[in-house]
Amino acid sequence: MTTAPTRPLFSSRLGFIMAATGSAVGLGNIWGFPTQTAENGGAAFVLAYCVLAFLLAYPALMAELVIGRHRRANIVTALGGLNPNATLRLIGCAAGLYGVAIASLILAFYSLVGGWMIAHTLQPGIELIASTVNISADLSTSVEAGTTWLTTQTPWRDIIFCSLFMTLTVGIVAAGVGRGIERWSTRLMPTLITLMIVLMIYVWSLEGAGEGLRLLLVPDVSRLANPALLVSAMGQAFFSLSLGVGTMLIYGSYINPDASLPTTGAMVTAIDMAIALLAGLLIIPAIFAAQHLGIVIYDEAGVLRSGPGLIFQTLPALFKTMGTIGQVVASGFFALLTIAALTSSISMLEVPVAYLEENHHLSRHRAVAIASLSILSFSVVIAIYFNVLFDAVVNFTTEYSQPLLGIVLCVFAGWVMRRDHLLDALGGSDSRLFNKIWPWYVRFICPLLIAAIFIQNLRT
Ligand code: TRP
Repeated sequence: MTTAPTRPLFSSRLGFIMAATGSAVGLGNIWGFPTQTAENGGAAFVLAYCVLAFLLAYPALMAELVIGRHRRANIVTALGGLNPNATLRLIGCAAGLYGVAIASLILAFYSLVGGWMIAHTLQPGIELIASTVNISADLSTSVEAGTTWLTTQTPWRDIIFCSLFMTLTVGIVAAGVGRGIERWSTRLMPTLITLMIVLMIYVWSLEGAGEGLRLLLVPDVSRLANPALLVSAMGQAFFSLSLGVGTMLIYGSYINPDASLPTTGAMVTAIDMAIALLAGLLIIPAIFAAQHLGIVIYDEAGVLRSGPGLIFQTLPALFKTMGTIGQVVASGFFALLTIAALTSSISMLEVPVAYLEENHHLSRHRAVAIASLSILSFSVVIAIYFNVLFDAVVNFTTEYSQPLLGIVLCVFAGWVMRRDHLLDALGGSDSRLFNKIWPWYVRFICPLLIAAIFIQNLRT
C-alpha cells in the first residue's frame, strides 16, 4: 500500500458517512429525482430506481470505495497503480484522467445550477423585506426590477451567481478534508433534512396534496417494461451516488482504516435513497396542491411540467399564493437546494484538487485555485452559449461518461485488482457473505448490466 504519512483522514466513520452522503445528496435528489419521477409516470419509476440503486449503483459504489481505500490516492494514481502490468497502468491512468475531466465538467454545469438556487433564495427574501418596510414608489420599482433580474436567466446573472457559488465551494475545499469537507457536511446535512421535513409537513396540509401521494405510491406496472425508464433510472442512480468520476474513490481513500466498507456503503446508499424519496414526497404533492389552487401544472402537450418549469414556475407560483409566509417558505426551499448543492460540489472539486496536489505536488491552496478557476471559466463559456452547450455537457457527462467509467471501475476492481487486496480493503468481520458474493458480482454482472442498459440508451 502506498500510504503517504501526511494524508488526511476523516475523523470517524460518522464523519465519512456525513461527507459521502453530503456528496450523494444534492440537486440530483431534490430536483432530479422528483422531476424524473413526474416525467416517468410516478411510482413505476420509483420502483425501478430503488431496485437499480441497490442492484447496480451500490456494488459500483463499493468498487470505488475499495479501490480508494486500498490505494489511498486520487483516481489517476489509484487506477494506474492497481497492477504492475505496463498496459494496464496506462489504461488506468488514462481512465483516471478522463474521470478527473468529467468531474470538472460536471462541476462546471452544476455550479451554474447552484448559482440559480442562490438567486432564487435571495429573490423572495428581498421581496419580503421590501413589502414590510415602507419604501417610496421609485425604490419599489427598482426593487421589482432587481427581483425580476434575479429570476430571469441571462448570461450575466448566471456568471455572477455561479462565481458566488464557486467561491463558497472553494472556501470549504481550501480548508481541507477534516476542517472543510467533513465539518461543513456534518453541519449542513442535518439542516437540510430538518428543512425538508418542515416543508413536507406544510405541503401535506394543503388541499390537493393527496393526489400527488397517490401518483408516487401506486405504480403503473406496465411502464416497467419500457427500456427508456430503466435507462433514466440507472442514470439517476449513478448521478445521485456520485459514481464514476472518482468522487467516492477519493472519499474512500480518506476513510478511517478500521471501518467496514460494506455496511458503511450500504448506509450511504440507503440515506441517499431515503432523501430522494423524501424530496419526492415533498415536491410531487406540492405540484398537485398547486393545481388545486388553479396553477397550470401541465404544459401545452399535456405533459406534467417538470425540469426548470417545475422548480422555477410551478412551485414559486404555489408559494406566492400563501402570502407572506409563502415568501419565507420559498426562500427556505431554495436555501435547501443551495445547501444540498454545496455539499455535492465540494466533493466534485476534491477530485481535481487531490489529483493536482498529489501528482503535481501543488499546495492545497494552489491546487484549489487552479482547479476552480479553470472550471469557472468553463462555466462562463456554458453560460454564454447556454442553448448550445448546457444540455450537451449534461448529456455527455452524465448519460455517456458516467456509465462508461462505472464499467471501467467495476472491471478494475473485479479483474485488475488482486483478490487478497480486494478482500483486505473491504475490512470488517460483518461482511463474510458480502465478501463471497460481491467480488464475483462486480466482475461479471455489474459491467454487463451497465453495458446492456448503456447500449439500450445508444439505440433509443
Ligand atoms: N450526487 C450529487 C447529486 O445528486 C451530485 C454529485 C456529486 C455528482 N459528486 C458527483 C454527480 C460526481 C456525478 C459525479 O446532486
